[in-house]
Amino acid sequence: MGHVDAGKTKLLDCIRGTNVQEGEAGGITQQIGATYLPAENIRERTMELRADAQLNVPGVLVIDTPGHESFTNLRSRGSSLCDIAILVVDITHRLQPQTIESLNLLRMRNTEFIVALNKVDRISGWKKCKNAPFVKAIRQQTEDVKDLFNMKLAEIKTQFQDQGLNTELYYKNKEKGECLSIVPTSAISGEGIPDLLLFLVQWAQKTMVEKLTYVDKVQCTVLEVKVIEGHGTTIDVVLVNGELHEGDQIVVCGLQEPIVTTVRALLTSHPMKESRVKGTYLHHKKIKAAQSIKITAQGLEHAVAGTCLHVVGPDDDMDAIKNSVMED
Ligand code: GTP
Ligand code: MG
Ligand code: NA
Repeated sequence: MGHVDAGKTKLLDCIRGTNVQEGEAGGITQQIGATYLPAENIRERTMELRADAQLNVPGVLVIDTPGHESFTNLRSRGSSLCDIAILVVDITHRLQPQTIESLNLLRMRNTEFIVALNKVDRISGWKKCKNAPFVKAIRQQTEDVKDLFNMKLAEIKTQFQDQGLNTELYYKNKEKGECLSIVPTSAISGEGIPDLLLFLVQWAQKTMVEKLTYVDKVQCTVLEVKVIEGHGTTIDVVLVNGELHEGDQIVVCGLQEPIVTTVRALLTSHPMKESRVKGTYLHHKKIKAAQSIKITAQGLEHAVAGTCLHVVGPDDDMDAIKNSVMED
């Protein structure tokens, strides 16, 4: 999350090795997107920082939200779906209105987050160290550049203090939990990307064991309703918990009335690819959380984005489910 143009999508492009941001209209994200980063890709990217790091998660599903002021609803939805958030701050612009809005959304939901202090390569005189861990990159800089970085960092820490938050560079932060961690990054030259990925995974593993433990009960949110050639009207969902199967009977909120239908196909983008971008789909007979999924089924034309999807079990009361989906 973060203010418009802080570099959220570009950071993901840097991680994925894609070019999604340049294809966006006006360079602005206008939808929620999702990308699955498998653990082996994270490992590859964090080798130089710590080759022996324990990664106990199968991967990470990353959700990208728009920063433009008109998309508060999408930021709110995005923040409600995540276990952990990355608040992206542009080091050249410091805290901006939607940085503060995002921060408040996260605090309201008690969602843990870290700060990516992005665009460090724009510090005057910065010497690029492609994809290097941040400490290694900062050591290569002249004293002037180091001073500039420290000055900007100090300003930003003061701004966070004004919002009631203590912050510290992540590798100096001894009281994680009390004090927000900052990971300096560049989405263009990749400095700090290993740090961001490793810190995210390790911190999640350490502090969120319970929240991250997978439970069977399906928890699934509709993000988009889209017509796709050859598939008719489809819904893009994020499955936060549980498992979906081809042939499952599902109920989603419709404009006028609940929609009861059967899952025809479960499609996902390829790992390391953005769900918003057209591409080929992988078909699944069943799929386990957390994943971003495109569901094809009949009768989805009037489905409402932002609402919950329910799976009908053998013992479920259909009327109760219908009522509950319409309450969204
Ligand atoms: P919205 O989704 O529209 O809110 O923006 P965003 O936060 O996703 O930012 P985006 O990825 O669209 O980047 C905005 C601009 O900043 C683009 O022109 C990027 O090329 C540039 N940019 C992003 N990150 C960096 C960085 O680390 N260094 C430099 N020099 N430019 C960056
Ligand atoms: Mg974006
Ligand atoms: Na942008």
